[in-house]
Amino acid sequence: MSKTDGEGSSSENVVWHSGEVSRTEREAMLGQRAGTVWFTGLSGSGKSTIAVEIERRLATAGRLCYRLDGDNLRHGLNGDLGFTESDRTENIRRTGEVCRLLVDAGVIVLASFVSPFRADRESVRDMHVAAGMPFLEVYVEVPIEVAEQRDPKGLYRKARAGEIRGFTGIDQPYESPDRPELVLPTASSSVEASAESVVELLRVQGLIGPA
Ligand code: ADX
Repeated sequence: MSKTDGEGSSSENVVWHSGEVSRTEREAMLGQRAGTVWFTGLSGSGKSTIAVEIERRLATAGRLCYRLDGDNLRHGLNGDLGFTESDRTENIRRTGEVCRLLVDAGVIVLASFVSPFRADRESVRDMHVAAGMPFLEVYVEVPIEVAEQRDPKGLYRKARAGEIRGFTGIDQPYESPDRPELVLPTASSSVEASAESVVELLRVQGLIGPA
């Protein structure tokens, strides 16, 4: 799907052109260390809500972060993709590349994607590790019954009625992370408490300074 030129990799015969300003220099300008916080979990688990709260807190503290949201990117960059397994894989691959660019720009990225497949998330992690960039996987954990009861967009109802096919947790699998950096059980903790846990993780990992 990503190879459109028909022969080998599409980056063949293309040479990387280095700049003169490093990520470290940009990070110094911003007074932070860049990295990606990757929120994974069922639709309706609270990924986007928590990311919005974190973004507000970090902005108030003068930190530059940027949210990437599955629902939003699917209106633009990933608007050509659906919800088959291969389209989800491509959705996550492209998003991982965008994360890498933003982290290189010095930004703290908050990426909220169902990202149901472990291998896809691991590829994004590997991409970050290879570039020496922090990647913090946050499992936004909720029982499917609770997500279905919340049903903020009415999508579980549609999936149960057979109006949507391949809905995560209903008729497509969700593979939970093996070793996430953080688990947020949103059925029992508030948005504020979850956001605070992530901000604390950012402190512990050295992306932001002390409160
Ligand atoms: S992912 O699986 O490729 O990571 P992504 O996070 O971009 O998914 O988009 C998920 C959002 O699309 C959900 O929050 C939901 O609002 C909507 N959606 C529509 N159809 C589906 C589906 N079949 N499975 C999951 N989410 C869906």
